[in-house]
Amino acid sequence: MILPIYIYGQPVLRKVAEDIEPDYPELKTLIANMFETMDKAEGVGLAAPQVGLPIRVVVINLDVLSDEHPEYKGFCKAYINPHILEVSGEEINMEEGCLSLPGIHETVKRGNKIHVTYMDEEMKPRDEVVEGYLARVMQHEFDHLEGKMFIDHISPLRKQMIKGKLNAMLKGKAHCTYKVKTIK
Ligand code: NI
Repeated sequence: MILPIYIYGQPVLRKVAEDIEPDYPELKTLIANMFETMDKAEGVGLAAPQVGLPIRVVVINLDVLSDEHPEYKGFCKAYINPHILEVSGEEINMEEGCLSLPGIHETVKRGNKIHVTYMDEEMKPRDEVVEGYLARVMQHEFDHLEGKMFIDHISPLRKQMIKGKLNAMLKGKAHCTYKVKTIK
């Protein structure tokens, strides 16, 4: 089932999301719905707060990038209760976008390497060091679980430049091809 994507201004996007218990009701269905919603909106990642749920669940699909990045062929994973323990490596600038901020693309500086813990879809605990593009996507998505969005990382000047677009979203104007939920 395709879920509406919550747009900038929705309070749930600013909440710190909670860890869930392994018996969280209908978790498999939620994860399947999140994958379907993300694919339909042509995103590479989606966090549960973006579908209105303040819980620590994220889906990432990098298979769509496998032409450029063959290492991500078939990469399609759900992350339950993820936590970043450390960000390290070289700081790299890269343009980011977000399904909750349609029409906005800004350069964000992030470390190239992260140490993360999470549970996989089988509820198996994982402890990984991840580098490169995946580390970037994970940082963007896991930020959503801390109530952060990528625009929090840009300069006040850049933020001023996109103010009009942000205000339009607060007034319920979001032009996208996918189903959304604005605050108005
Ligand atoms: Ni996002």
